[in-house]
Amino acid sequence: MALIGMGFAVLTRVFYVSFLQSEQLQVFTNLLTKRGFVYGRKKFQPQEIFLRTAAIGATVAAAGKLFTVSGKPAAASEAKTAPVMSPMKMYVCAVCGHIEFGSAPDNCPVCHAPKDKFTLNDAVFSDAMKKFPDKADSHAPAISIKKESSLIPDMPCKEVRVRVGKMMHPMEEAHHIRFIDFYIDDKYVDRASTSIHLYPASTFYLKTMGGSKIRMVELCNLHGYWQTEAEME
Ligand SMILES: [Fe+2]
Repeated sequence: MALIGMGFAVLTRVFYVSFLQSEQLQVFTNLLTKRGFVYGRKKFQPQEIFLRTAAIGATVAAAGKLFTVSGKPAAASEAKTAPVMSPMKMYVCAVCGHIEFGSAPDNCPVCHAPKDKFTLNDAVFSDAMKKFPDKADSHAPAISIKKESSLIPDMPCKEVRVRVGKMMHPMEEAHHIRFIDFYIDDKYVDRASTSIHLYPASTFYLKTMGGSKIRMVELCNLHGYWQTEAEME
């Protein structure tokens, strides 16, 4: 997208310099109209039209610096995004969708539903990956870890950031992320609730310096469960 936008801007500028200011164009435009192009009530001179077009091209080029052709954010290179499947037993809460690893809890740590609301389902992640093999980039949570926090510099603190996914997932009524659950060593820590008014992203500020593995689990209303693991740094 960046190359297309920059090319568009350069070509438009070259065209403007080499042709728009030439006498030939003046003759050409005089043939079309002697008073400039009229759109609605506003009259645009040809020079203004092409300068505005060049500005649009430059804007597209600038946007292209933020997003590559595939829509991946350039600044997310540190993020770890490979979706994983877990060998552990997984129990899914029928009330809030939370997943517990290893065994069903007495009560759901998110919605407090009793144990009988949990169902063993070891295929939640593999089902999504099989059904939607081309959706990993927009669904697998992207995790990045900072060993120090600029918000909490006076205390031991790690910043764990997550977004869904490398390609930003839509947040609309018809298609959205319902939640992102955060685990350390397969133990649930917290849930980032989501809204269609927000991007599906969050930051957790860790007090604990322990643990060796971080896991993020998200649920899409259309494409099911996706998870990513990252080594604690
Ligand atoms: Fe989705």
